[in-house]
Amino acid sequence: MKDLTPNKADLDPIEVASIDEIRATQLVRMKWSLRHAYDNVPVYKQRFDEAGVHPDDLKTLADLSKFPFTYKNDLRDNYPFGLFAVPREQIIRLHASSGTTGKATVVGYTEGDINNWADLLARSLRASGLRRGDMVHNAYGYGLFTGGLGAHYGIERLGATVVPMGGGQTKKQVGLINDFKPDGIMVTPSYMLNILEEFHKQGLDPRDSSLSVGVFGAEPWTNAMRLEVEKAFDMHAVDIYGLSEIMGPGVANECVETKDGLHVWEDHFYPEIIDPKTGEVVPDGEMGELVFTTLTKEGLPMIRYRTRDLTRLLPGTARSMRRMEKITGRSDDMIILRGVNVFPTQIEEQLMATGGLSPHFQIELYKSGRMDALRVYVEANPDAADELSKTASARMLSKRIKDMVGVSTEIVVGDPGDVARSEGKAQRVIDNRDKE
Ligand code: DLL
Repeated sequence: MKDLTPNKADLDPIEVASIDEIRATQLVRMKWSLRHAYDNVPVYKQRFDEAGVHPDDLKTLADLSKFPFTYKNDLRDNYPFGLFAVPREQIIRLHASSGTTGKATVVGYTEGDINNWADLLARSLRASGLRRGDMVHNAYGYGLFTGGLGAHYGIERLGATVVPMGGGQTKKQVGLINDFKPDGIMVTPSYMLNILEEFHKQGLDPRDSSLSVGVFGAEPWTNAMRLEVEKAFDMHAVDIYGLSEIMGPGVANECVETKDGLHVWEDHFYPEIIDPKTGEVVPDGEMGELVFTTLTKEGLPMIRYRTRDLTRLLPGTARSMRRMEKITGRSDDMIILRGVNVFPTQIEEQLMATGGLSPHFQIELYKSGRMDALRVYVEANPDAADELSKTASARMLSKRIKDMVGVSTEIVVGDPGDVARSEGKAQRVIDNRDKE
């Protein structure tokens, strides 16, 4: 793989500033953001008043813990524009996520917000090893999802050539990659596996492709998956994180030279980790739920937004700003099976370590008598699809999950192509517990 470490001179000065400087910038911006939310969004004013806090009470960054949380439901309850802090006429872009239940959550951006987003996405791409003059194939979905357009503006801001492909049409994706010869690709890691599969179907060796870096996010993926994709394409696989409520992709990004977790762009987003049960802030290094406060957002300031993503904060390495560890999963995706907490990423890790199986999988939760049970659908590699190999792979995976994760599972090994494919975020868990 190529050494893609960016030149120090190309970084934003704040990326390598001292911690004191970063904290000072954050404090000034946090005061502004609390004040902006309080003065312009009635919901925040009411919440702060009820909690007996006022923006003027924030003297240090730690004082943030006195302020109330904001939840996804607050966006739904104030659908569509109730949390916007500027008149609708100043909003130049809307995005929305459908979610699985209830109303969509709608987010809005001012011209300044879109500008900052493009800058931060460009910063993320630079961290990933891309630079001005490169070409980037963008396979994140365009439309209301923040992935496509968010990445698009960032690629342009970097000064790279964007190929605005969007999701789906896998054959065409591979055709364009071969014809245009992009340096980078942006796509969900699960869809990258479909693209990989299509390379093989067309009899092409992905290692001969022009791709030298993939910027993967929008869903949890493991280091085991990273190694698999890196080996298959002979390219770097870098993690990008974000969520619509806070901005979209580009809230945090890994650095290609270290790949040791995602640097949070702390000059725009202040992270806290809390105990999800008590709401107490836990020290850096401890696992918990990630909470964000936006520091510069004009259209939709978010104060202490509960992401439900589980991770921990670590000190900076390649950049001064703190890192968040690769996300284990969302608290909503956590399966509790006979008292043991299980995340789909743990299943993925064991799957990748088992020979004879492809990396595609889906988990079904169902009732067995009065107990919850878990079935994992996987598929055989084309060269191990005979019944004997399938049985051996199933036994091996089941044992690994039992030994390493601590739960008993039923493994169903299908033929190549049996597991449902996604064009964006993969649906890892199907809950059929009320169906039997
Ligand atoms: O998924 C934004 C995005 C687009 C990020 C493209 C990266 C690349 P939402 O649809 O609002 O926004 O979903 C946000 O997706 O709270 C996490 O649970 C999950 N997520 C996003 N990035 C990662 C990641 C976009 N790198 C939700 N690792 C978040 C794990 C991720 N989970």
